[in-house]
Amino acid sequence: MKTKLFMIEENQQEYNWMDEAAMMIRNGSLVAFPTETVYGLGANALDPEAIAKIYQAKGRPSDNPLIVHVANLSMVEELVTEISSQARKAMKRFWPGPLTLVMPRSMRVPDCVTAGLDTVAIRMPSHPVAIALIDAAGLPIAAPSANRSGRPSPTKGEHVVEDLDGLIAGIIIGPESQFGVESTVLDVTGAVPEILRPGGVTREMLLEIYSEVRVDPALESVREDRKPKSPGQKYRHYAPKAKMAVVQGSLAFKREVALRRLNDSQGRGVVLASDELAQELPDLDVWNLGAWAHPEIAANRLFDLLRMCDARKIEWILAEGYREEGLGAALMNRMRKAAGGHVIKEEKEMKLAIGSDHGGYELKEFIKSKLVETGHEVVDYGTFNGESVDYPDVGREVALAIKAEKARYGIIFCGTGIGISLAANKVEGIRCALVSEEFSARMSRAHNNANMLAMGGRTVGPELAWSIMQAFLATEFEGGRHARRVAKIEG
Ligand code: TXA
Ligand code: MG
Repeated sequence: MKTKLFMIEENQQEYNWMDEAAMMIRNGSLVAFPTETVYGLGANALDPEAIAKIYQAKGRPSDNPLIVHVANLSMVEELVTEISSQARKAMKRFWPGPLTLVMPRSMRVPDCVTAGLDTVAIRMPSHPVAIALIDAAGLPIAAPSANRSGRPSPTKGEHVVEDLDGLIAGIIIGPESQFGVESTVLDVTGAVPEILRPGGVTREMLLEIYSEVRVDPALESVREDRKPKSPGQKYRHYAPKAKMAVVQGSLAFKREVALRRLNDSQGRGVVLASDELAQELPDLDVWNLGAWAHPEIAANRLFDLLRMCDARKIEWILAEGYREEGLGAALMNRMRKAAGGHVIKEEKEMKLAIGSDHGGYELKEFIKSKLVETGHEVVDYGTFNGESVDYPDVGREVALAIKAEKARYGIIFCGTGIGISLAANKVEGIRCALVSEEFSARMSRAHNNANMLAMGGRTVGPELAWSIMQAFLATEFEGGRHARRVAKIEG
């Protein structure tokens, strides 16, 4: 199929090709168009054959319902059996705009639009071209995001061309989308409105008109058994071809994780980072998400950057997590989805068991003070004043505490770290790594799932010991073939 491209010139008010695009919709063809959130792939919402083409062009699973776009209230009235007072409030305040309302559907809405649900999702976009197209067609337009299923949503006309050229009748190409993330999906069928997908209208904004707003608990969970109420939320979405992870925590933690990735990894990778984090990573391969105070900038850039990663054959992506406030909630929802739920989280207030003989006493005291300073809880098994003790006694005691799960990790010290690590490793289930540089500390976690770390008071200085400690705490076990090997170590 030859796809017709309609270009919007800058500051254009009248669209002389609009009748042609509208006619395509009326004839049951597909036309992609800009909205203020992302580009949509439109079809006549009342024509099941046209709708079938959407699922086909996108490669979209047919159990994922579509949003119907309207230009006025009388269109809404045709599509629903009832407009609740909750719905009315939201329309009054946030329409036209990035808010989709889930309402009880009328029989006019074909089953394929709602994927068989008894509700329909409706939105009145604010983008002048979207409204003009719906008006000119004189029909409600069903439109998912105009990407191939699974790919990042299109925020630029060129993204749509990339995914759908040759598969649909027309593409209206305008400027970049304003929001860059999709609309908020809000269920207003119950007594308390519930956010099924966070988006351009934030929870904070909704709380200006409602006394209570729920968030679908499945959104915050990565557990597979929690079924999201919005069918689309269960799919891996927006996925770049690269392996992607999100890092969350303090600036120091994010910096540490980013440096580790950039230094250790083979192949081509990038870090997507705020201005604040980028400043800590000078001269490295960092792509900018804007300042922390402006999550809307990050939201606006995210999908475009993910597509750029694909184009440049990037192999891994580490994206900086933002606070889940305001538009940050929508941003993090999309980031987590793109990463397939892979989040590297700083565990604050981790409980750690620590111990040393007299040879490691000073180093133990230094590391302990650093750990406490950075918010961890430390249980100290001595020695408490540098008095002479036998390292096997301390090593074993800390190891038994870890075995009994009294703390997450055990950290032990003696003169060289050797004797005390040998003693700890005699306890079942303990994998104590004797380490004198950062790389081995990371590997001991990533590959061996080490649960104890041993260092020598006479072999590493305090500064190095602290970087080793941080590297150890910031690294997660990789699993996979390493899990099989760890199982072998365990016998
Ligand atoms: O900003 C947007 O909403 C964009 C632009 C084009 O308007 N559209 C968009 O559509 O993001 P799509 O198809 O990519 O996402 C629609 C979401 C899906 O997660 C879908 O499961 C959910 O809305 N949805 C649709 N109908 C629903 C319903 N009746 N109940 C619950 N969720 C529904
Ligand atoms: Mg989509």
